[in-house]
Amino acid sequence: MTMEKRGLGNTGVELPVIGMGSWQTLDLPPREQPLADEIVSAALGSGTTAFDSSPMYGRSEEVLGKALEDRRDGTFLATKTWSRTQEAAEARYEEQLRFFGGHIELMQIHNLVDWRERLSWLERERDAGRVDLLGATHYSPSAFGELEEVMRTGRIHAIQIPYNPGEREVEERILPLAAELGLGVVVMRPLGGGSLARIEVSPEELEELGVESWPQALLKWALADERVHLLIPATSKPERARENAAAGAGPPLNPDQRELVERISRRGGG
Ligand SMILES: NC(=O)c1ccc[n+]([C@@H]2O[C@H](COP(=O)([O-])OP(=O)(O)OC[C@H]3O[C@@H](n4cnc5c(N)ncnc54)[C@H](OP(=O)(O)O)[C@@H]3O)[C@@H](O)[C@H]2O)c1
Repeated sequence: MTMEKRGLGNTGVELPVIGMGSWQTLDLPPREQPLADEIVSAALGSGTTAFDSSPMYGRSEEVLGKALEDRRDGTFLATKTWSRTQEAAEARYEEQLRFFGGHIELMQIHNLVDWRERLSWLERERDAGRVDLLGATHYSPSAFGELEEVMRTGRIHAIQIPYNPGEREVEERILPLAAELGLGVVVMRPLGGGSLARIEVSPEELEELGVESWPQALLKWALADERVHLLIPATSKPERARENAAAGAGPPLNPDQRELVERISRRGGG
C-alpha cells in the first residue's frame, strides 16, 4: 500500500505523512553508523522521505547526514537552529550544510531561541537558496503564546508541536491558527515519547481499530486530524521504522475508533 501524502500547509511541498525523528535514536557513535544506515534504509524503503533533527540531539545530525549521503535526492531534511548566540548559530549552520549536502529543506528555530534575530538571518539564507522553508518549534504549552506570535508574523512556513492523545493542548489555539494561516504542521512526540506506545492492547482492540499494532493506532489518531501534515516518530529499530511507516497507508480511523484510542491511552503506559 502506498503512503498517503499531504501538502505541508500552503508551502506547495507535498510529503508522505510519516517522517522520522532522530532525538536519542540517531545520537550514535561512529561505530554504530551501520545501525543508523539500516534504520534510515528501512524508513526510505517504506516510503518515508522526511527526516527531522537538531543540533540539540548530540551526533544525530551528522549520523543522519551520513546515512542519507548518497540518497539525499528526493528527501526532505528538516533540522533546527538552537544556539545561544548568532555567531554560534552560524558556525553550527556551516556544519549542518556540510552534513546535509549544502541544502536544508526546512530550518526550524528550536524552542524559539532568540527567534527575532534568527529569523532575519534565516530569511537571508533562504533568499540565498541554501534553505527552502522556515519554521519554529516548541514542545511546551507554556510557550504556545509566543509560538502564536511567531506564527502571526507571516514569516514562517511551518510549526513543529507535540500532539498525541495525552498531549492535546495544540487543539485549543495552535492547530486552528495554523490552519487559518496555511502553515505546515509537523508533529513531534506522536507516540508520547514512547510511553503511550508501551500500553498493552488486546488483539480484539487492535481488530476494532483496524491496525496491526497499537503504535500504528496512535499514529493514525494524530493523522485523523487533517490540520496535521507530517508525523515524525523516532525509533532505534529498523523493523519499527517499517511498522510506523505502514500507519500512513490504509483507511483512516473513524470517530469511534479515534475515541477508543483515547480511552486506551488513558490506561497509561510505562
Ligand atoms: N522540537 C522539539 O522540542 C522536539 C521535542 C521532542 C521531539 N522532537 C522531534 O520529534 C521526534 C519524535 O519525538 P520523540 O522521539 O520524543 O517521541 P516519539 O516519536 O513519540 O517516541 C519515540 C519512542 O517511541 C519508541 N517507538 C517508536 N516506534 C515504536 C513502535 N513502533 N513500537 C513501540 N515503540 C516505538 C521509540 O523506542 P525504540 O527506539 O526502542 O523504538 C522511542 O523511545 C524526535 O525524535 C525529534 O526529532 C522535537
